[in-house]
Amino acid sequence: MKLAIIATLVGSAAAFAPSGNTVRMQSSIRSTTEDEVTEVAAEAAAAPLPDIVPEPVVAPINGWVPNESLPCYGLPGALAPTGFFDPLGFAQSGITLNDVKRNREAEVMHGRVAMLATVGYFAGEAISGPFNIHGPANDQLQQMPAPAFAFLTLSIAAAELRRATIGWVEPDFGDWTKTLWAIRDNYYPGDIGFDPLGLKPTNAKDFANMQTKEIQNGRLAMLGWAGMCSQELVNHRTILGTIDFYNKIYSGVNPYESCVDGVVC
Ligand SMILES: *[C@@H]1O[C@H](CO)[C@@H](O)[C@H](O)[C@H]1NC(C)=O
Repeated sequence: MKLAIIATLVGSAAAFAPSGNTVRMQSSIRSTTEDEVTEVAAEAAAAPLPDIVPEPVVAPINGWVPNESLPCYGLPGALAPTGFFDPLGFAQSGITLNDVKRNREAEVMHGRVAMLATVGYFAGEAISGPFNIHGPANDQLQQMPAPAFAFLTLSIAAAELRRATIGWVEPDFGDWTKTLWAIRDNYYPGDIGFDPLGLKPTNAKDFANMQTKEIQNGRLAMLGWAGMCSQELVNHRTILGTIDFYNKIYSGVNPYESCVDGVVC
């Protein structure tokens, strides 16, 4: 027990140490910078101006160096025939790098969820599973037993919390406006380090290529899922059920002929 308390104290002491160091380090950096600036200014007055090569502000992440003069700061995802397509101006010039990264994060994540949902709609309607869930996918969540629903909710919350800690700057409650919505400088939107099959390319060009494929599939899935969800809202049939329904209509068969009186089918 004592050992545990000591370990905790050491842990918390260690947790406080770096912040103090950081402050000291920052002030020493600041003073050197000021000294250097004074020296450089003195030299500049005496000698002709040296060639100053501006360094990139952000180091490359997965081979991507944010470049303000490129559409979307040079993030991949544009493809023929549309090329860079941004009619609503989510990435127009003047939008900050942080906002562009945040929008891209949202796009990639919505795309991934939509890809899963697209497969899930068909899979969920084909298999009734352990809880005997059936009918259109739109109406399946309500059929889940409460404990399973709670487990699902907690799992999603845990995954989202994990993603937040990977991609976002720690909140500073003393000056919260500075850290609100702030994405880490070294975070590549969507790269949460989950790659169980080892598909992530190491080379920058291949990475951009694969990222474009993922985003394009995600965009298609978002549209596809939205279409399936709307269709089910309209006629409350499964996707294959809708196909079957219209097959009957177009081949002259009454789709309602096997329906019992008073039962909607
Ligand atoms: C940013 O992109 C422009 C246009 O392609 C290019 O001329 C410039 O060299 C790029 N800047 C950096 C730092 O790569």
